[in-house]
Amino acid sequence: MFPGHPISKLISKHPTPSYTRLPRYTSPRFRIPRARTMSTTAPRADPFRPARRVAGQRQDVWSIVNEAAAASPVQPIVNMGQGFFGYNPPQFAIDAAKEALDRVECNQYSPTKGRPRLKKAIADAFSPSFGRTLNPETEVTITTGANEGMLSAFMGFIEPGDEVIIFEPFFDQYISNIEMPGGTIRYVPLHPPKDGATRTSPASEWTIDYQELESAINPKTKMIVLNSPHNPVGKVFSREELEKIGELCIKHNLIILSDEVYDRLYYVPFTRIATLSPELYERTLTVGSAGKAFYATGWRVGYLIGPEHLIKYVAGAHTRICYSSVSPLQEAAAVAFEQADKTGFWEESRTEMRNKMERFCEVFTELNIPYSDPEGGYFVLANMASVKLPEDYPFPPHVASRPRDFKLCWFLIHEVGVAAIPPTEFYTDANARIAEDYLRFAVCKNDDVLETAKERLRGLKKYIV
Ligand SMILES: Cc1ncc(COP(=O)(O)O)c(C=O)c1O
Repeated sequence: MFPGHPISKLISKHPTPSYTRLPRYTSPRFRIPRARTMSTTAPRADPFRPARRVAGQRQDVWSIVNEAAAASPVQPIVNMGQGFFGYNPPQFAIDAAKEALDRVECNQYSPTKGRPRLKKAIADAFSPSFGRTLNPETEVTITTGANEGMLSAFMGFIEPGDEVIIFEPFFDQYISNIEMPGGTIRYVPLHPPKDGATRTSPASEWTIDYQELESAINPKTKMIVLNSPHNPVGKVFSREELEKIGELCIKHNLIILSDEVYDRLYYVPFTRIATLSPELYERTLTVGSAGKAFYATGWRVGYLIGPEHLIKYVAGAHTRICYSSVSPLQEAAAVAFEQADKTGFWEESRTEMRNKMERFCEVFTELNIPYSDPEGGYFVLANMASVKLPEDYPFPPHVASRPRDFKLCWFLIHEVGVAAIPPTEFYTDANARIAEDYLRFAVCKNDDVLETAKERLRGLKKYIV
């Protein structure tokens, strides 16, 4: 390992027959006598057993959907399940990525907190909606996607035993991100409209019971996670709702992690909780995603915005987890933020997505399938209570044992060739009933794909009672 180094010479000249072989550069002082090791150390019974944090018992929803898709007689299936885009980022972002690859410094490590140009572009792009001049050096940090950004936030603040509140349904990654540093989760359900099975209603009708929320808070509670616009409900939390949540967070002295990755896609007025008062800014980490903003989920560029006393510890955890994030795509994201306002991209993106949503949902109206009309984002929850699943339908056991939405999902893939996501995956078992008649569709797909999906979904007519 260190050719020519005195220790290397010493070790190669004097092999160590009576010692367990350790790395060659280990000082002889630390070698363990072989006989002692062999007599006291029993071999591990199960060295390949994975750590509990990665060893889920149940098959996850993504692999069930993929398995169903592969086995479906209708090929190829139309995949409206996962929230990835069916089209490319805007040309200015693609060009910037290509140019970045030609620059030496863009192919090397970036500063751990992110490239200065990207932090500045984000501070400039977000200062107007934050109503303050954000300091790019202290109030912005770059992460490897929003997901790793949130992991870093929990790693930065959660100790074993600390509690974190999340609303159900939740973005599934929150769970492991909170549990990895040893946090305990308290779940508070969003309540759907009571007549969701018979009436299309705005996503705002999924509501919070504030007493239920406050009773989930105790002296161990350290953080609360909000998500607006919400995945999968499509709810944009109103100013009044955020004020009430904010009051509770101030009263109980909680950190707020506000996941706003769909912040450019809102169809009703959108409020950031961090902007409601200086007290709320001081306790809020706002999370964003260049992947969601620029149709580039594979770029893995995310960011957090907040006060210095919170951001510096998120950045500290991120340094331990990934060191720094992908350089050329940070540079490209910087150019994309610089260009987006100038080119009217945000407006265009919002209008385009809203149109996709409206056109796609026409098929539910046609079929008399009620849905939760999204106020933001690109997911829609359709209530399929009226779809009658044949009694003797051959669901495989791992689907038959899950709530009804998993069966609906399997059935749709096999009978009409359209994949959607069963939202009970975003619930604890205790509350899964709330969503078992719904399926989640992602509309961030090309228009021809949406049209094919609509045509296929019309095939459900004969199962609707
Ligand atoms: C609510 C929510 N937060 C965070 C993320 C993750 O964003 P990123 O791809 O930037 O990690 C997603 C992705 O689907 C999401 O839906």
